[in-house]
Amino acid sequence: MLALKVEKHDAEKARQQLLQQNALSKESKAFRKGNFVFFPITGEVKVSVPHSIVKTKEKFHAVEKTKSLKELLAEIIPENQLAETVSSYELVGSIAILEIPQKSSGKKKQIAKLLLKNNKRVKSIWRKIGKRKGTYRLRSFEWLAGKKSLVTTHRENGCSIKIDLGKVFFNSKMANQRLRIAKLVKNREKVLVLFAGVGPFAVVIAKQNKKAAVKAVELNPHAIKLMKENVALNKLEGRIGPIHADVLKFMKKHGKWADRILMPLAFGGNAFLPSVVQDAAKGATIHYFAIGNERDGIYAQALDDVARTCTKAKRRFKTLNKTIGWPYAPRQSVVVIDFKLMN
Ligand SMILES: C[S@@+](CC[C@H](N)C(=O)[O-])C[C@H]1O[C@@H](n2cnc3c(N)ncnc32)[C@H](O)[C@@H]1O
Repeated sequence: MLALKVEKHDAEKARQQLLQQNALSKESKAFRKGNFVFFPITGEVKVSVPHSIVKTKEKFHAVEKTKSLKELLAEIIPENQLAETVSSYELVGSIAILEIPQKSSGKKKQIAKLLLKNNKRVKSIWRKIGKRKGTYRLRSFEWLAGKKSLVTTHRENGCSIKIDLGKVFFNSKMANQRLRIAKLVKNREKVLVLFAGVGPFAVVIAKQNKKAAVKAVELNPHAIKLMKENVALNKLEGRIGPIHADVLKFMKKHGKWADRILMPLAFGGNAFLPSVVQDAAKGATIHYFAIGNERDGIYAQALDDVARTCTKAKRRFKTLNKTIGWPYAPRQSVVVIDFKLMN
């Protein structure tokens, strides 16, 4: 079989590039031999790390197919009831989080055991209870099966993120936005991540941009502790400064430091926009996360927030981009407005 051969330390970079080109075989698993990693490829590839294309005689192992949740549930639930039995499913590290409406509650243990038995990645299964609450944006969970722990390490964008879902916020759906923003960061930029949680934005940005300086501000002491662990886990010591502080106080004193400011607090982030706009430096780029409603035009409210706030603060601005982040609720999505302060 055709394989891309790269040195071990280049393997993750090569894997990401193969994934982007859709050139990694889905049937077989990569393997390691000595200092090299061999990736099964489907055709021509372009990678930026030193490599060779070889025909290997070694046998690639087949990828074990894991049944999707829908396929598994079909074994115990009639097809026309599937959608209403589990209304959402998220895998964070080795923890599966299910949303099971009240009327399907009777089946919760059966569903959890089935999932645990059939998916090797899943070690523990929890059910979402209610909405996120409070300043730290935490939610409650009900244990259903497996290990009774909410601590796990999630892999995302080539980084490891340790989380304790009982004590900190985390949302795996934000991965695309993390990579998108990380790719916008320029050489030697000073990046300030506000509302930084356990540091996933900071870690992905620092990993992608070797010369960027990153500061990450967070109020939840548990999140700050985990952020420090995540900095070490990803070998980014000295590249990210975790700061345990209130965003408003931090911006007042140090807001001018940053070339780029991230505001990943979609629910309630508008209350902080005046302070960020007021205290940021001329030329700073701001990534403003907000909740958009399809009824009003998905970006309308967020664009209006930016325009009104900048006008009030007598700051000229230029909208650079607007994107949809991830679904938030029926007919609502998290949107991100990128804008630059011109004076
Ligand atoms: C929506 S979460 C985003 C977390 C993180 N950026 C991520 O991607 O996982 C918002 C975070 O802001 C923090 N937070 C809320 N108010 C804050 C404030 N005034 N100052 C600093 N952090 C705050 C919360 O504790 C929470 O961790």
